Amino acid sequence: MSDGYGLLKGKKGIIFGALDERSIAWRIALACKREGAEFVLSNAPIALRLGALNALSEETGAEIIPCDASSDEEMAELMDKVKEKFGGVDFILHAIGMSPNIRKEVDYKELNYSWYQKTLDISAISLHRVLKFADEKDVLNDEASVVALSYIGAQRIFRKYSDMNDAKALLESIARNFGYNLALKKGVRVNTVSQAPTRTSAGSGIDDFDGMYVFAEKIAPLGNPSADECADYCVTLFSDLTKKVTMQNLYHDGGFVTSGVSQELIDDITELYLKDKK
Ligand SMILES: NC(=O)c1ccc[n+]([C@@H]2O[C@H](COP(=O)([O-])OP(=O)(O)OC[C@H]3O[C@@H](n4cnc5c(N)ncnc54)[C@H](O)[C@@H]3O)[C@@H](O)[C@H]2O)c1
Repeated sequence: MSDGYGLLKGKKGIIFGALDERSIAWRIALACKREGAEFVLSNAPIALRLGALNALSEETGAEIIPCDASSDEEMAELMDKVKEKFGGVDFILHAIGMSPNIRKEVDYKELNYSWYQKTLDISAISLHRVLKFADEKDVLNDEASVVALSYIGAQRIFRKYSDMNDAKALLESIARNFGYNLALKKGVRVNTVSQAPTRTSAGSGIDDFDGMYVFAEKIAPLGNPSADECADYCVTLFSDLTKKVTMQNLYHDGGFVTSGVSQELIDDITELYLKDKK
């Protein structure tokens, strides 16, 4: 790892969603540390029981504050603790996602509605909850930056991504709406980063993930960005170099979203389906 650029020197933050060392939030925590930031780490109590986060806590010197992102009480308590520790924060990362329907392989047409509500609550409404309690408890410093991780399923249909497509559309909308309010109030910016398929615990829980990964890789002219590359991008958004970027969904996908199809994929398809017809 390089020594970094000191882009987050003196900044304080909250990082939600690091589970194991493949987690995008884990990689972002390491990059934030490299750039000079101090932060707390948070995850659901059930995830903390796995114990992996202790290693990241030791490596970065960050305190762990448990919080189920679907609980108002736990979110309020977390913000109280952060206020006491730091006074205020300059950045927040929301890297939280979970769908019981995907876990149980329920088709989109047949969604279990109670699980559907859980998906939306944990994966999207939790961003509203983070911002609401951070604002209410006066935890956000002036010109703070908030980033939530999204996926292109918000705009396009990826069938096996099921109700997470809906969750990401809601997440991006919440980022815009809350972003508007917080920009007026404190110059705070709120953006979503739409990351390409990345091999993590949440990623590999999706049926056909490998196919989606290879598909994106073959279409994106720069290829799929890694979790570490996503981390570097998020650092720029937390830094003072992007103070007027807000209410945006920013694609971090190697050019996938604006590409039609790649010659490589056309060649593969031709080879697979059309070679006998020539
Ligand atoms: N992996 C990908 O391909 C990909 C692509 C684009 C966006 N994303 C998004 O990136 C974010 C991080 O996912 P990841 O791929 O690093 O996987 P991950 O499994 O490492 O992270 C998901 C995190 O959400 C946490 N979480 C689940 N329920 C929670 C709750 N009730 N309260 C608090 N935390 C809870 C998990 O414990 C875990 O730490 C997610 O929002 C995901 O949708 C992932």
